[in-house]
Amino acid sequence: MANTKEDKANSSNRKRRAKPKKSLQRYYDSEHGIRNHWWPGLFSYELKEDDVKGITIAGERIGLRRANGKVYGFRDQCVHRGVRLSQQPTCLTKKTVSCWYHGFTYNLKDGKLCDIVASSNDPLIGRTGIRTFPVKEYCGIIFVFVGDEDFKTPPLTDDLPFKLPKNEPLRAPCIQDKDALALGIHRECIGDWRLAAESGGDPGHIMIHRNSALVLALDIALSLGEPVSGVDSMLIRDEKWPKGVTKYFDNIEPVMHRDDLNIHTYGKTPPYGLRVSLCLPAILFVENWPQPGMTQYEWYVPVKKGYHQYWQVLVKNCPDEMAKEDFTMRYKNAWEDLALKDGFNDDDIMAREAQEDFYNNRNGWDEEQLFSMDQFVVEYRKMVHKHARGVQPPPDKL
Ligand code: FES
Ligand SMILES: [Fe+2]
Repeated sequence: MANTKEDKANSSNRKRRAKPKKSLQRYYDSEHGIRNHWWPGLFSYELKEDDVKGITIAGERIGLRRANGKVYGFRDQCVHRGVRLSQQPTCLTKKTVSCWYHGFTYNLKDGKLCDIVASSNDPLIGRTGIRTFPVKEYCGIIFVFVGDEDFKTPPLTDDLPFKLPKNEPLRAPCIQDKDALALGIHRECIGDWRLAAESGGDPGHIMIHRNSALVLALDIALSLGEPVSGVDSMLIRDEKWPKGVTKYFDNIEPVMHRDDLNIHTYGKTPPYGLRVSLCLPAILFVENWPQPGMTQYEWYVPVKKGYHQYWQVLVKNCPDEMAKEDFTMRYKNAWEDLALKDGFNDDDIMAREAQEDFYNNRNGWDEEQLFSMDQFVVEYRKMVHKHARGVQPPPDKL
């Protein structure tokens, strides 16, 4: 019972905050991920001919195999005793994947149990199997559609950021461009996939980057925070797929220094054409970053409660072999460390990890107190709540 003034204030604060939570319930329920969406699984170069590799997306154990160049996706769990097939890949023909333990053999196309090594007339053959997952290889990335088997699979491009028209002001490359080259990394990180997505698009967090090597090396005038004056400073695209929200530059001047607090940014060169979007399912799309003429994509793929696979990809248009070679060399020798690792994005990883305990163990979703710059991520929350094609159940319900 609320006794003191402070108790009353706290209790009424809680009541006030409980309302928006209800209105975004599907978002708050999606700690295991959202369902019926395309997610990146591996880079193409990570799956060579006859390789079998296991990945986990939103709690689903998925095996990927390349046979005759084509990639197949299947539940990475033998129906016999439940081991992961990818633990000791065993491929006896180009059309099948076998379990290394007792030889159950599954057809790659439909997942049916089509043979058992030492029991080829076994009555179980043809009567059971593992489910398969739609797979698409696009711009050097293997994407997997994770959802219900009977869900009508939407085109992959519905789950990629908007392909902007060529004449769009400030347009930067995107992976739907014919000559796009996408180079990057992915790694498992601590942190709920939603917090990761929110922190990627968060206009208020950029003060953590004021000393980042990338910002200093390129002398980028990155502010201490991008003001958000309500929905007018955003473009909300939720009429048709792909869906997402784009942050516009506001009329309000970004804060570059606070002399009274003795804090300032160091860079002097305004970031030409920098534009940030957060798209479904959980993709950050940063145009003209880390330099004009390049785009950074980030996917925050749910893995299991409290963990996500952090995908960081830089895209540049490379119309010929010489341009490809040039971008590849610069990526390997400069951009990977400077933009994607300890020169910049490792700061984001640190910040996400620091939030996780509050949200995962201490009721953070109820207790957080958002401010004006959080409006951008609130719009993303609304979008996921409204348009996610499903909420992923916990692994024991899969
Ligand atoms: S566990 Fe796979 S065949 Fe026995
Ligand atoms: Fe950041």
